[in-house]
Amino acid sequence: MKAVIIDEDGLQVKDVEKPQVEVGRAIVKISAAALNRRDQWIREGLYPKIELPVLPGSDGCGVVQEVGDEQDKKWLNKRVVINPNNDWGDNPNVQARSYHILGMPTKGTFAEYISVPVDRLVEAPKFLTDEEAGALPLGGVTAYNALMNKGQASADKKILISGVGGGVAQFAMQFAIAIGAQVWVTSSKQDVIDKCVEMGAKGGVSYKEHSEIVALSKSIKGFDTIIDSAGGEGIDTLLKSLAPNGRYVLYGATKGLPSTLNLRNIFWNQLAILGSTMGSDQDFVNMVQLVEKYQIKTIIDKVFPLERAVEAFDRIKNTKVFGKIVLRP
Ligand SMILES: NC(=O)c1ccc[n+]([C@@H]2O[C@H](COP(=O)([O-])OP(=O)(O)OC[C@H]3O[C@@H](n4cnc5c(N)ncnc54)[C@H](OP(=O)(O)O)[C@@H]3O)[C@@H](O)[C@H]2O)c1
Repeated sequence: MKAVIIDEDGLQVKDVEKPQVEVGRAIVKISAAALNRRDQWIREGLYPKIELPVLPGSDGCGVVQEVGDEQDKKWLNKRVVINPNNDWGDNPNVQARSYHILGMPTKGTFAEYISVPVDRLVEAPKFLTDEEAGALPLGGVTAYNALMNKGQASADKKILISGVGGGVAQFAMQFAIAIGAQVWVTSSKQDVIDKCVEMGAKGGVSYKEHSEIVALSKSIKGFDTIIDSAGGEGIDTLLKSLAPNGRYVLYGATKGLPSTLNLRNIFWNQLAILGSTMGSDQDFVNMVQLVEKYQIKTIIDKVFPLERAVEAFDRIKNTKVFGKIVLRP
């Protein structure tokens, strides 16, 4: 079968052996798989604990072709999305030490077929195309945990989604709007802000203009929850933009550490700073249910055939992109 392989020679599409079915597992014929920032970082050698060769891909949708156990035959021919969590563990609030993400160290979705444990399968929402369903898993569950659990989002909350052009942030914005919250966004791109307003956001400003973020927050008496993955110099401004007792949820650190942090603002206003990563298996199921309940359509940037994976990976570096980049085997 054809698969994307990252090895000492870089990223290529190669012929590799098709996986064989095993007890407790299913073979899924992949119909669509989507890129995440993680895949490109693995390609660039910037992700922790890289073990070459890598068959990347954490997001995928497909049809179950084979199962290893008689009792799992009900899954045959079902259209599924794959839960990219492996070994989350017993604590719903935090993953176990053995936790790992599909697509390294285990073989990922950027291939014609994948072998996964049957308990990783969830029926794909029927109203979504293969591309829309296949782009949902990693970004969807990360956004769900950050927004719904850590961010305690609800219809009466004022929520800021920072860097909304990001793959996870787009889902956080859509989920927050769907549940009826008042949502604002930041982005480096005015056209993305405009699109979010068309989709139901109240407004937005550039995250490069710190004074505009503070002015916006003052005009609405502060955000109850801010969802961010950048960190860096923006943190102090975002914390300043929270209402008293507000929540700042961080699920990434693209911009690294801030040079200053106003600690007095944090304790005096009783702010909560919360880390968030992916989400439990139950969060994954809850996320798919939320998508079904509100008929949330994944924003897609572009679909590439698997053979053009190099082009697709190069596109994720393009800062103008809004929406998920999808591969079709
Ligand atoms: N914890 C987890 O489980 C988890 C899961 C997925 C991702 N992540 C992390 O989350 C981050 C984003 O991942 P992703 O897959 O969504 O990546 P992505 O699609 O590449 O999104 C990155 C976005 O960050 C925004 N950004 C850049 N500089 C910013 C700044 N100074 N302030 C605010 N936003 C800024 C940009 O938004 P605009 O386009 O709007 O300018 C950009 O589109 C990465 O650090 C990734 O490692 C963590």
